[in-house]
Amino acid sequence: MEFPFEKALVTGGAGFIGSHVVEELVKMGIDTISVDNYFAGKHENLEHLKDYPNFHEVECDITDRDELAKHFPGVEAVFHQAASKKTICLNDPPRDLAINAEGAFHLLELSRDHGVKKFVHISTGSVYGEAQYYPQDEKHPLVPTSYYGVSKLAGERYAKCFNLLYDLDTTVLRYFHVYGPRQESSDVGGVVSIFTRRLIEGKPLTIFGDGTQQRSFTWVKDVVKANLLAATTPAAKGEIYNCASGITVTIQKLAEMVADILGVRDPQINYEDWQVGDIKVFNIDNSKIRGELGLDFLTDFRKGLEMTVEWARDYFTKKRA
Ligand SMILES: NC(=O)c1ccc[n+]([C@@H]2O[C@H](COP(=O)([O-])OP(=O)(O)OC[C@H]3O[C@@H](n4cnc5c(N)ncnc54)[C@H](O)[C@@H]3O)[C@@H](O)[C@H]2O)c1
Repeated sequence: MEFPFEKALVTGGAGFIGSHVVEELVKMGIDTISVDNYFAGKHENLEHLKDYPNFHEVECDITDRDELAKHFPGVEAVFHQAASKKTICLNDPPRDLAINAEGAFHLLELSRDHGVKKFVHISTGSVYGEAQYYPQDEKHPLVPTSYYGVSKLAGERYAKCFNLLYDLDTTVLRYFHVYGPRQESSDVGGVVSIFTRRLIEGKPLTIFGDGTQQRSFTWVKDVVKANLLAATTPAAKGEIYNCASGITVTIQKLAEMVADILGVRDPQINYEDWQVGDIKVFNIDNSKIRGELGLDFLTDFRKGLEMTVEWARDYFTKKRA
């Protein structure tokens, strides 16, 4: 893929998805700055890149506009992946708003002022709230039912506003249930990595509800491709895309598949009460991103799981050593 920008800035670069975006850009030879406050990000996620001369790691909070401004000279493309965790939003809604809305605003203003040529803004399926019809396309009403959904919606609306007011070339990608290596596996992490870690450690799994809830799991490297295609496809200017594989898998099936890949027979599963606000069905229309950006998703979910489990086995073995 021809990448027309020489210098990129990735916020949340030390996090799960951001580190994969940084890795791809660095390996393509792009001068790449990772900006992260290490609240959830980890230095180890970028450790393997430290010998590349075109890789730069910066500790900076996106709510600190003056500090952020120091890293903008020469930047041509911004990939804004940083966000407050969903877990923060309930404990500290003002901080959630400051990161997801005000942080995005600072980045957009700085991008405008420094002549950034492309701004890829990351949003979430949480902006839709409860599904009013299936499959959900980008025209689905936006009625977020969480503070996180509201603050992320504010961020994407700012992105669109800068596109309309200043002709900034922005594209919004709404992610859904991304999985893969380096995803947080503590209890606030993603369900794939939590199940994988617990089974590797010989622990029982917990399913909230009866396990029939469906998720649209999306392979992290496809999400990276979506970022690059959004940055390099002229038709993506000002657009919003669902970035979801389109496959749907139940949580029960996921538990069985991870156990099978790890060779765990009859895994112990504890079923607990449904979590408040848990959305039962995700059925996402991804035809816009496939059609306009030409993105092919990995739909062989077992293959993606195998790659994730292989990484986790290696990671936890090294941790124990
Ligand atoms: N993982 C998913 O399934 C999923 C689904 C929907 C949307 N998203 C979105 O994808 C993006 C990446 O999520 P992720 O899963 O990699 O999460 P993550 O927590 O691993 O990464 C987010 C990163 O942002 C950093 N960060 C948080 N606040 C910051 C601040 N104030 N200043 C600088 N850095 C800050 C964190 O330290 C972390 O490294 C987020 O925008 C998230 O809303 C993810």
